[in-house]
Amino acid sequence: MENVLGSPINRVDAPLKVRGAATYAYEHSIPGVTYGVLLTASIAKGRIAQIDSRSAEKSPGVLLVMTHLNSPKLPTLSNQKSTSPTSRVVHVLQDDKVLYADQPIAIVIAETLEAAKEASHLLDVRYEEEVHHVELTGREAQGYSPQKAGGGGDPSNTERGNLPKGMSDGAVRLNHIYQTPFEVHNPMEPHATIAVWDQAGGLTIFDATQGVSGDQERVAALLGLKPENVRVISPYLGGGFGSKGPTWSHVLITALAAKVVGRPVKVAVSRPQMFGMLGFRSTTHQSIYAAATRPGQLTALRHDTLCLTSRFDEFVETASLSARMLYAVPNNVTTHKVVRSDIGTPSFMRAPGEAPGTYGLEAAMDEMADALEMDPIEFRLANYADADPENGKPWSSKSLRACYKKGAEHFGWSKRRHEPGSVREGHTLIGYGMATSVYPTRRSPSSAAARVMADGTFLVVAGTQDLGTGTYTIMTQVAAQAFGVSPDRVTFKLGDSRLPKTPVSGGSQTAASTGSAVFAAANALREKISQMATTDRDSPLFGSGVGDVEFINGRISLKHSPSKSEPIEEVVKRSGQSFVEAKGTAEPGAEKEAYSMYAFGAQFAEVHVDADLGQLKVARMVGCFGAGKILNAKTARSQLTGGIIWGISMALYESALMDARLGRFVNNNLAEYHVPVNADVGVVEAIWVDEEDTHINPIGAKGIGEIGITGATAAIANAVFNATGIRIRDLPITPDKLLGPRAS
Ligand code: MOS
Repeated sequence: MENVLGSPINRVDAPLKVRGAATYAYEHSIPGVTYGVLLTASIAKGRIAQIDSRSAEKSPGVLLVMTHLNSPKLPTLSNQKSTSPTSRVVHVLQDDKVLYADQPIAIVIAETLEAAKEASHLLDVRYEEEVHHVELTGREAQGYSPQKAGGGGDPSNTERGNLPKGMSDGAVRLNHIYQTPFEVHNPMEPHATIAVWDQAGGLTIFDATQGVSGDQERVAALLGLKPENVRVISPYLGGGFGSKGPTWSHVLITALAAKVVGRPVKVAVSRPQMFGMLGFRSTTHQSIYAAATRPGQLTALRHDTLCLTSRFDEFVETASLSARMLYAVPNNVTTHKVVRSDIGTPSFMRAPGEAPGTYGLEAAMDEMADALEMDPIEFRLANYADADPENGKPWSSKSLRACYKKGAEHFGWSKRRHEPGSVREGHTLIGYGMATSVYPTRRSPSSAAARVMADGTFLVVAGTQDLGTGTYTIMTQVAAQAFGVSPDRVTFKLGDSRLPKTPVSGGSQTAASTGSAVFAAANALREKISQMATTDRDSPLFGSGVGDVEFINGRISLKHSPSKSEPIEEVVKRSGQSFVEAKGTAEPGAEKEAYSMYAFGAQFAEVHVDADLGQLKVARMVGCFGAGKILNAKTARSQLTGGIIWGISMALYESALMDARLGRFVNNNLAEYHVPVNADVGVVEAIWVDEEDTHINPIGAKGIGEIGITGATAAIANAVFNATGIRIRDLPITPDKLLGPRAS
């Protein structure tokens, strides 16, 4: 009971999921529901010259074919802007323009899904095509510097010290370009929406969203409704990874179609349609310049990132952020540039910025360590930043030294041989590599409410989300810990915009933000119960000070005389009420200005490369993290290993192939967009160091949603170099790239 928080309890929602009783967005059963199928553009740029829907309309079961010709016009669409980090400009059948491949151009509504699908094939669309540009290579010079880079509002470009001096101070210099491909989130659950209008003009949306409040606000704003007349419900998600943070076009189109047909409409985006209209990670070109002295002191570091954005919206893949703060280098320049292209807007994808950025930076650091003939960890320790070099602020906590040490020991790093290509077993070349992980610690204003019932059970609520990550479970633990009861007495409810407002579940901030609000609500309820007990003549605690009681084993007891106690629910029962409730809020405070707040980690990889065929396998990975208080050792392990496995995916497999002639992704399915299967993943271990951070937030959690992927890709690329002597600076590392000249 004492240590509910942190303990590896099973997911509280697991039984429902195992039984298929957890209802995902598309699965809500709505009387009278109709089925929508989206039609998306087959060209990348131009206009719809003609769209003939007559045969589709005559197809059996069809209720509506909605195109730009008959769609209701939105009052506010012309004003839409990316006003918040999760806003994206959407396309809601308002005009004939096509701005990217797979932009929605029509929706068919029918009595059944089959009828809607059938009719969608009968639409006859003629386009007037224009020349499109979707590639980065060859268009680098068109890049411009955005005002801000990323959701945190960081400056796009920074400079400290004197870079040219730092370059000349160095004895060893390197300058390389590291490239990452387009990557597309592929949550198991596709994006899906059900829109239900009531007779009073209110709208209820069952949506696969990472943020019910943001969804509610954006839908209301675009449809010209009051926010209180829009309700968003999202109890379970089958993954999101950033792709379900924004409110995309299909949500609005579904709502409009439901209004026109006068019945509820449900829409799921098909897997191929998920490649392009729902955000993805832009390809990046990262130019990294570094210089260091012979003893291994970095004197200059420059990281320039170039990526794509759409013609009509701006998203920056902030890959240069880590180079600002990770190493104690006095002379530093970081920049971001984006190139306008005829693509859907790229968007947040797990560890936006840091995932590709730590690949480039940490591969470059490995190259530098190699050039200096230093151990890669020794090189990093020689440049360890004891305060944030960007602004001189102290870290709220930083356990990176301990992560290097513990991770190295756990992995067996001391067995690494420095000479590339020097470890061979038969046909197999074996290499070890490591890299640093880093991800910022953020939180946003959040609120929650807690009730204790007369039967001694607790209901805690917040309008947050569970992406499949464990929010239900960890919030239950935070509350149970505060109440001094077993977690099975606590029910946590989330996923409804009518519940107390919380931020989007993005930026790894749910545990810190909503966890702190739940903690505040639980404490407020304790306070209230304590007040009631100590002022009630019928309570054994009557007359005690509120500060003298504690909540242990389901009882409220006097600290110094534990025999004076009563079950918590007795207080509720005597009150004559069916429950007692309190609310809590939490928001970032002075810590934001006083400290630099990040989670850190060290990743280690062992790769096996077939010397003749170039076939690669990541045999082992160890990630060791310093991420504040770990709220549940089991869900945390899943989150972190999931991130590391994504690092394997990014290193060896993932690439959304943009056909420059067609202007679209051509491998838009899970057969050709490669991700690792179990057989591709060796032993993956996520461990951590105990870290008490008393500055970041009341519960001390840094958030672990994204750090697991950071550094993982570089550790693998560095291990490939150690195995083969071949440095691949262009992801993914596929066997063909290793069939060149070899060190050994
Ligand atoms: Mo995460 S990519 O900020 O949902």
